[in-house]
Amino acid sequence: MTHKILVLPGDGIGIEIIAEAKKVLDCLVADFGLSMEMEEGYIGGAGYDAEGSPYPESTQVLAKDADAILLGAVGGYQYEELPRELRPERGLLAIRSELKLFSNLRPALLYAELADASTLKPEVVANLDLMIVRELTGGIYFGQPRGIEVLDSGERRGYNTLEYTESEIERIARSAYDIAMKRDKRLCSVDKANVLEVSELWREIVTKVGADYPEVELSHMYVDNAAMQLIKDPKQFDVMVTKNMFGDILSDAAAMLTGSIGMLPSASLDAAGKGMYEPIHGSAPDIAGKDIANPLATILSVSMMLRYTLNEIELADKIENAVKAVLAKGIRTADIYQEGTQQVGTAAMGDAVVAELRG
Ligand code: IPM
Ligand code: MG
Repeated sequence: MTHKILVLPGDGIGIEIIAEAKKVLDCLVADFGLSMEMEEGYIGGAGYDAEGSPYPESTQVLAKDADAILLGAVGGYQYEELPRELRPERGLLAIRSELKLFSNLRPALLYAELADASTLKPEVVANLDLMIVRELTGGIYFGQPRGIEVLDSGERRGYNTLEYTESEIERIARSAYDIAMKRDKRLCSVDKANVLEVSELWREIVTKVGADYPEVELSHMYVDNAAMQLIKDPKQFDVMVTKNMFGDILSDAAAMLTGSIGMLPSASLDAAGKGMYEPIHGSAPDIAGKDIANPLATILSVSMMLRYTLNEIELADKIENAVKAVLAKGIRTADIYQEGTQQVGTAAMGDAVVAELRG
């Protein structure tokens, strides 16, 4: 079966890291029988530059037609003054929302080889393997009303709305329980039920859905405590499920436990398992074009794509093993460099993974 893959490099380092991920895909086609058709499109600032929109029509058409999407990153200084609806981030939010990619999986996995790259003590993070399931198409990111208004007094007031319906909570809860069933069967739901009504409803629904998953041990935690516990003792967690904004924040913290945000892939899935795959880091305009960005989060996003949407499990394993082997050889980009290892650039890291795949 031929998989239709849409590649959206986006902006900044998105372009360089996607180039390395494409090398890996090309190698799977040439040497391991992967059958795919690859299209490329614009998103974010690149979409604005090419067609005047951060999620242009042409990309919308390609996205609907694709089996899976691989995205780099969006954003750049030159777009910061644009009206909000034309900014790169809006393109990312629009594609997530229009394709109904509500379930965002962000695994934080510490490779043994990188145990000392973390700023935390090795014993706190060694063998860390946790999964954050972030709700991605609701909550305060999308709630209406929103805006900035001028009050009668002349003072301006900015406002957003945090809202979740029961069905939105139920589907992300099911997604998280399903993941927990495939792992250590422990689910921690993170909320702010001591203050927010939305969280009260969230907690009630997550607990109710749990009746269908008697094997999963459910716990609840307030988000402030969860942030603290992630730093103090991250290994207590197996799967965490949380709202859009809390997941955004906690997943950056979880990424740093693993030594570098440049290592973490993610998957955003719809109800049928169609997905968009992207590194969790941003477009890092300060280092763009310098051949120093770490392409591994994007290469590992390819692996997630093969695993979760394309059902090419063996090829997914191959990529992960190749990444481990490269790290074991001491090959490092700047963000994960340590004394005694060999520092390489973005392209050389991609080449190293491909060389390892070829064996
Ligand atoms: C992420 C990013 C995005 C988000 C931004 C770029 C809109 O931080 O994927 O975590 O907040 O979701
Ligand atoms: Mg984020």
